[in-house]
Amino acid sequence: MNLRPALLTTFASLAIATGAQSAQDPQLAQQGRLLAQSLCADCHTFGGARRSDRPSPDFADVGAMAQTTALSLRVFLRTPHANMPDIILEPAQIDALSAFILDLGGK
Ligand code: HEC
Repeated sequence: MNLRPALLTTFASLAIATGAQSAQDPQLAQQGRLLAQSLCADCHTFGGARRSDRPSPDFADVGAMAQTTALSLRVFLRTPHANMPDIILEPAQIDALSAFILDLGGK
């Protein structure tokens, strides 16, 4: 018996399932937007109106960068970054913010 076609079918459906999961959960991304509006908007913009007077990158640009992933955002947001010493985020907030940033970046 040749198992190959069955294996290929399994891999194909796994690939489809994984692809479907990589889109961000819209509810989580929406929570992230609300958090970002209250915690991050002093410095960051979220797509649309860019402000050249700010050193902080727009979240849509961050999300679109090839190296930005849920993991890289989780690592980055676990340690407060330049000039934002007082923002300590809960893991659930980090998940929501990274869903929002990736969603803005079209991932
Ligand atoms: C006081 C200003 C300030 C606030 C508030 C702030 N940031 Fe930033 N952020 C910056 C600056 C400046 C940079 C660019 C320098 C750096 O990477 O540290 C940056 C960079 C980033 C990056 C880019 C990392 C990369 O890979 O280039 C991410 C993601 C980010 N911020 C997320 C957030 C989130 C989420 C919040 C809100 C919870 C937030 N920031 C709040 C100033 C701020």
